[in-house]
Amino acid sequence: MTKTAFITGISGQDGSYLAELLLGKGYHVVGMVRRSPQDVYPRIEHLRDRITLVQADLTDQAGLIRVLSASQPDEVYNLGAQSFVAASWEQPVLTAETTGVGVARLLEAVRLVCPHARFYQASSSEMFGNAATTPQDENTPFHPRSPYGVAKAFGHHLTVNYRESFGLFACSGILFNHESPRRGREFVTRKISRQVACIRLGSEEQLRLGNLHARRDWGFAGDYVEAMWLMLQQESPRDFVVGTGVDHSVADFVEVAFAHAGLDWRRHVLIDETLKRPAEVDLLRADPTKACEELGWKLSVEFEALVRMMVDADTEEVNQAKGNA
Ligand code: NAP
Ligand code: GDD
Repeated sequence: MTKTAFITGISGQDGSYLAELLLGKGYHVVGMVRRSPQDVYPRIEHLRDRITLVQADLTDQAGLIRVLSASQPDEVYNLGAQSFVAASWEQPVLTAETTGVGVARLLEAVRLVCPHARFYQASSSEMFGNAATTPQDENTPFHPRSPYGVAKAFGHHLTVNYRESFGLFACSGILFNHESPRRGREFVTRKISRQVACIRLGSEEQLRLGNLHARRDWGFAGDYVEAMWLMLQQESPRDFVVGTGVDHSVADFVEVAFAHAGLDWRRHVLIDETLKRPAEVDLLRADPTKACEELGWKLSVEFEALVRMMVDADTEEVNQAKGNA
């Protein structure tokens, strides 16, 4: 029998890769989107005739009940969130409402409407924040450093609580940074790859960045959606850390990206103090042993290949845009 998967945040980076993965496995994919007057969702336009889109918002309880009742999913993936850490200091209440309380609203809707559906919560390594130990695994205590991290910690604990209180098959995937050519342009990796492409093609000269010393565990988003799916195929619901186990600095990313384009980053990168955060997360590195051993999860793209993939994709996109101008 065809299974139905329900994805919040389907218009985002991960939503688009997850939809492709699940379509490939024969699922009926229902994606929740926010109303858009243009009715255009660029990352999933190529899938539009193969998926069902429904309109609702994580801030609206009745809408979530309505769309889950209508679709009666077997699996629910909660990827929707205000996901940009820097914006969470500008809009802490919105971030709490969407990224935190939104999880409560969706879990309530699942409990009322489709309690047998399996539930995936998109938790984040940002919950570790100022972590006392490195690498971080499923037992590392949380010390979030941003309103976003605080909201994600609420969502994580509530997912565990609904599993323990109501017996929901609910899993929290604690994912470290994952990137791709579909990454939003405000995140540092895509900001770098995009600007490198523009500099390479002569339309820009400079790249303004904040803290070059922060270290992250960067992987490829296409690999991480596989881990989400695997978590919901297990016999029992559990939580997993997913990451590469290797960290690099923002400066490392810059260096590899510029070098791939044949450029010297020192001639183009400027430090802009206004881009530094009120509280920084200095170092995140995963210990993904549990995901590798219990889910059989594997990486397919290493750091340098990921950087090159993003620079090449942006070079092609910027080149095309210039040709069309
Ligand atoms: P993304 O590209 O920013 O996508 C976020 C999605 O959430 C978009 O589809 C967005 O819709 C939707 N959304 C925002 N506010 C909403 C609301 N009020 N109601 C319903 N949907 C809403 O993020 P991503 O990189 O794909 O990440 C997916 C999830 O994983 C997020 O929850 C993120 O916090 C989490 N996560 C990401 C990473 C990472 O490195 N990428 C790591 C750990 C955890 P619009 O298109 O309408 O804005
Ligand atoms: N965005 C951005 N822009 N970040 C910069 C810049 C800049 O100009 N300059 C330096 N950075 C540094 C940030 O201070 C941070 O330490 C690091 O680059 C990564 O920033 P982001 O790419 O914005 O990602 P993030 O690590 O804050 O959050 C991402 O990963 C989380 C998982 O750890 C997001 O995808 C979150 O949604 C996700 O949960």
